[in-house]
Amino acid sequence: MLLECSGISKRFGGVHAVAEVDLAIAPQQVFGLIGPNGAGKTTLVNLISGHLRVDSGAIRFAGADVTGLAPHTLTARGIARTFQGVRLFKGLTALENVLVGGHARMHSDALRRLWPRGASDRSDRERAVQLLERLGLSRPDALAGGLAYGDQRRLEIARALASDPRLLILDEPAAGMNPAESARLRELMRALVTEGLTIVLIEHDVRLVMGTCERVAVLNFGRKIAEGTPPEIQASPAVREAYLGSEYAA
Ligand SMILES: Nc1ncnc2c1ncn2[C@@H]1O[C@H](COP(=O)(O)OP(=O)(O)OP(=O)(O)O)[C@@H](O)[C@H]1O
Ligand SMILES: [Mg+2]
Repeated sequence: MLLECSGISKRFGGVHAVAEVDLAIAPQQVFGLIGPNGAGKTTLVNLISGHLRVDSGAIRFAGADVTGLAPHTLTARGIARTFQGVRLFKGLTALENVLVGGHARMHSDALRRLWPRGASDRSDRERAVQLLERLGLSRPDALAGGLAYGDQRRLEIARALASDPRLLILDEPAAGMNPAESARLRELMRALVTEGLTIVLIEHDVRLVMGTCERVAVLNFGRKIAEGTPPEIQASPAVREAYLGSEYAA
């Protein structure tokens, strides 16, 4: 397994945001993580990426115990993620944002001192431009803050990919995308998996999840209530019950 979470938990005051979750994700697949609002999906991602510390339980990545490591250390080991709300450097260009992502892998500590006018060599730039093109972003010199929302979301993915990850976690990447954009996102995810990447996809667009993922886990009130293939998840009474009254039930 590339990623293994064993009984991980996180509380915020009285809220058990993530409760004893076990997760085992094999390499080279898109693994879906779904659940109603407030189910604990983003908190689980924050635990895996080191942005939050587990209260209990353990996380293993690529065969090593990574529990409690800092985000930049985990990035260096190959875990990249995007954020549910876009977090770009809005005053930098699209290209510069991707270059920051690439630097994050090797010298995240020095980053703040070196940026914005550090020496990034030609190959870094060429690779960054290629990544932008792959994400359908043809204006590398456009300011990130001036891009349309869908483009900002794709720029976040390009930036995450610039760190050359083994595991890419996408927290609701299709939010605000139109159907054509989310179809292209699906194609991109499938292509990346073919190239060796493993993806964790959090998404409210159930059609996108069911049409993209090999396996899906479902959270509800912090607990994993189901896991299986998309047909198994769609047939699960526990999942239907968790989603009663929400978009999934429709
Ligand atoms: N920093 C925090 N402080 C206090 N409570 C928090 C914090 N972050 C999350 N929570 C709570 O933990 C629970 C899980 O939240 P989380 O954001 O992980 O859910 P989610 O599944 O990502 O929801 P959504 O689909 O709305 O993004 C919620 O009850 C939320 O209010
Ligand atoms: Mg969330």
